[in-house]
Amino acid sequence: MRALVLHPVRHGSDGRDSAAALAEAVALTEALDLDVVGADLVPLPRVRAGTLVGTGKLEEIGATVAEREAGLVIVDGILTPVQQRNLEKAWKAKVLDRTGLILEIFGDRARTREGVLQVELAHLSYQKSRLVRSWTHLERQRGGVGFLGGPGETQIEADRRALDERIVRIKAQLAKVVRTRGQHRAARRRLDYPVVALVGYTNAGKSTLFNRLTGSEVLAKDMLFATLDPTMRGIELPDGRDAILSDTVGFISDLPHQLVAAFRATLEEVLDADLVLHVRDIAHEESEAQAGSVRVTLEELGLDEAARERMIEVWNKVDLLPPDRAEATRQIAARNPRVRVISARSGEGVHELLEAIAEDLGGPALEEVLRLGFDEGRRRAWLFDHKLVRAEQRTDEGFVVEVRWTERDRARYEAINAN
Ligand code: GTP
Repeated sequence: MRALVLHPVRHGSDGRDSAAALAEAVALTEALDLDVVGADLVPLPRVRAGTLVGTGKLEEIGATVAEREAGLVIVDGILTPVQQRNLEKAWKAKVLDRTGLILEIFGDRARTREGVLQVELAHLSYQKSRLVRSWTHLERQRGGVGFLGGPGETQIEADRRALDERIVRIKAQLAKVVRTRGQHRAARRRLDYPVVALVGYTNAGKSTLFNRLTGSEVLAKDMLFATLDPTMRGIELPDGRDAILSDTVGFISDLPHQLVAAFRATLEEVLDADLVLHVRDIAHEESEAQAGSVRVTLEELGLDEAARERMIEVWNKVDLLPPDRAEATRQIAARNPRVRVISARSGEGVHELLEAIAEDLGGPALEEVLRLGFDEGRRRAWLFDHKLVRAEQRTDEGFVVEVRWTERDRARYEAINAN
């Protein structure tokens, strides 16, 4: 479908911010496989209650819609239900506001059962908030008259009840899915491989890096939100040990509040991770602002300060920088032990990143000798499973096992094999 994208600019807004916001709205629209036939900033000297824009602007946009044969107009802002309806009538096209657009994208990208349910829930509560608004509006019109509502109100109340029933049903299903996921997570923890989570602003290159590190074919296109649900896979670190890599949904600034819960659920894994990698598009002109909004979101999600300080920043897409800026960027990064410069596309810096991960997860390696009796097969198996054994000898009493491991491995070995 052909779409026109508009970003309303309130009086006194910064022009540069508006241009970036419009570019993001266009990228979001393209992420829905829509054909963007025009993108414009719409100055709003004052907001009209009925149509958002004034009459002149309304007609001008209507002419553009007709001329470019757009079937959909995205208004990258908040529309009341009344405004949405009036604009659709005036422009003879479907109209979506920012929340509507992002809901569509989330719906399109949800891949797990939980993701689908979360999005449906967000959609229903969005619809309900619109119903409630028009309902109170009707009620106000009715004034203080004390008889039961007319047909309009009964219909809306019935709609509300139907929405409420669906919301209750979905919440129950979600609770079940979340319980199952909790069980999966517990099972994974019993396997006890460290978990490394990738976070980052949408389009930073998380999926591309995930693919490069795991050699898998997770959807990596120039599409926002290609990964609504966390995806997990095992990776082998340069020291020979395994870890689980988890890809997460891309962050976005000004997330509509109906979607915050859906977003939170998909990010819960991050709170559990042993190490968080913050992937950044270092070639993006808004790179710093994007990183700031990711950090704020992580804090709001409840990632504690220690975990935030331990985070490794991955400055991606260095291949897109001109050579002198790329070099300057590498030099800045070289002075900061928590920063690695890479290109997920070309592979530059990826091995060094893996080494940094291994070092962070492991700490310095220790070589030790353990003596295990014949009845301690379980402990021995654990050591082999975790690739910690360098050599072993069988003796009359059992096994002499030479391990190379870290403080962390030893602590886990002792905790898990305590009884
Ligand atoms: P979301 O799923 O929206 O959160 O995006 P993401 O962070 O997973 O980004 P993704 O891996 O899908 O990459 C977005 C776009 O950037 C794709 O077109 C990638 O090909 C491109 N890209 C990723 N890494 C690099 C890189 O190192 N260099 C260049 N030139 N492009 C890259």
